[in-house]
Amino acid sequence: MTNSTTIPADTAAGISRRAALLIGGAGTAVALVGCSTGPATTGDAATTDQSGDPKSGTGGSTEVAKLADIPVGGSVEAFLNGKPILVSQPTAGKVVAFSAVCTHRGCFVRPVGKEFDCPCHGSKFDAMTGEVLGGPAPSPLVAVPVAVTGDSVTAT
Ligand code: FES
Repeated sequence: MTNSTTIPADTAAGISRRAALLIGGAGTAVALVGCSTGPATTGDAATTDQSGDPKSGTGGSTEVAKLADIPVGGSVEAFLNGKPILVSQPTAGKVVAFSAVCTHRGCFVRPVGKEFDCPCHGSKFDAMTGEVLGGPAPSPLVAVPVAVTGDSVTAT
């Protein structure tokens, strides 16, 4: 018994060099499409649309955090309809929120002190306003309207 593999003469002759190149090219195109769809993320891309708007397809108000859990001058990560948001409390009792989707290429930004930092290409955002502080992000984070009712922070 041998370990060699032979290609039947009728198969080898049946695939022209041009056909082999076309097949290889199609496979490469499929691979590239697979790499280029959706944003580059560090989280669950399936829950983020291209707009970075976590309000898409929602209605009514939803509790996103407890006021007591958000440090004054700081932020917490939360979810709205399965999409990541960041909730900040600039001053006692005043709350703002933003999509956590970076406006550069869609990675999820994280709270770091009074900033939101993007781990992908280094953009930094003001945690109280969502404005770009540095890096390649072209625009501020998308604001998410929120309100405080008692100790509950709800997206409106
Ligand atoms: S995706 Fe955030 S800086 Fe590029």
